[in-house]
Amino acid sequence: ANKVKVGIVGFGTVGTGVAKILLENNDIIKSKSGIDVELVSVVDMDTTTPRPLSLPQGMLSSNLADVIDNDSISIAVELIGGTTVAKDIVIEMLRSGKHVVTANKALIAEHGTELYKVARENNRCIAFEASTCGGTPVIGALRTGLAANQVNALYGILNGTCNFILSNMTDNDIDFPTALKQAQEKGYAEADPTLDINGADTAHKLTILSRIAFGRQIEFSDVYFEGIENTSIVDIRYGRDMGYTLKLLAIAERDPETDKISLRVHPAFIHDDHPLAQIEGPFNAVSVIGHAVGQTMYYGRGAGMLPTASAVVADIIEVALGNSEKLFNGQTLQSREETLEKIDPI
Ligand code: HSE
Repeated sequence: ANKVKVGIVGFGTVGTGVAKILLENNDIIKSKSGIDVELVSVVDMDTTTPRPLSLPQGMLSSNLADVIDNDSISIAVELIGGTTVAKDIVIEMLRSGKHVVTANKALIAEHGTELYKVARENNRCIAFEASTCGGTPVIGALRTGLAANQVNALYGILNGTCNFILSNMTDNDIDFPTALKQAQEKGYAEADPTLDINGADTAHKLTILSRIAFGRQIEFSDVYFEGIENTSIVDIRYGRDMGYTLKLLAIAERDPETDKISLRVHPAFIHDDHPLAQIEGPFNAVSVIGHAVGQTMYYGRGAGMLPTASAVVADIIEVALGNSEKLFNGQTLQSREETLEKIDPI
């Protein structure tokens, strides 16, 4: 089998999941892909807090150079999160000649254009399947599975926390603060759930998916977004009585007349007959309509240790298979100026 050495920076929830899969499921990966992935180094500032996985002696360190300066590592995995330190580290990884795999949606949505450029200049790639819909392979589907299609529309439930809150309000007739509290108790929402409930997290993910779906240089600032903070149980009851379910929906539509794309995130009533209305709890789903294929739908867990790690490992395998130059690198994007429709807040 082809051997590839991997280093991880960020040993939190997802980092733990990736290390666990690489250490425990090497045989599955080898038999399916022919690649022998060897985890050689895990770096985190915190090397003392116990994690639900013990690494082999000496694998964990707080020294970033253990990944960046290790020339035997060809794929570096960024799982720190955030957009400041993570951005600098990703640039360093690329400049030191490593392909990068990341789960960082804010980073790719807000700085993707710059990072793809650094990747191209260094003849390396950035893979980010785990940044959107966790383990559900939507990016791979858009990139290769639907490559023959002009995408006409994409509708998504892209934030598990919001979907859990809205399902919980609908099913149990409870108000927003109570449902949010339950989402936090179950560990779905962050301690600071601002980016989840104000729609920014969904807008990050819509930015990422739309670039690939429509092949245009879409920026985070092009997406109009509203969240679910002001959702009232009264609205949900009215909708329910009339056969509609309230969802936080990410919407990207292409106008067939003008060929312009509109991008927006806001709560929307969906008729109960529509498959997206049936998505309950902390799940994600994306419906993509292509001119040749018609409607397709992708469904699964959008967060969590092993589901997200599943997508990170998928990217590691894809890069190790030599597909790095075939991965999305932003090169073919049409300029955004004349191709986007401006959404005015209602
Ligand atoms: N906070 C996100 C969610 C996590 O609830 O969907 C995954 O990006």
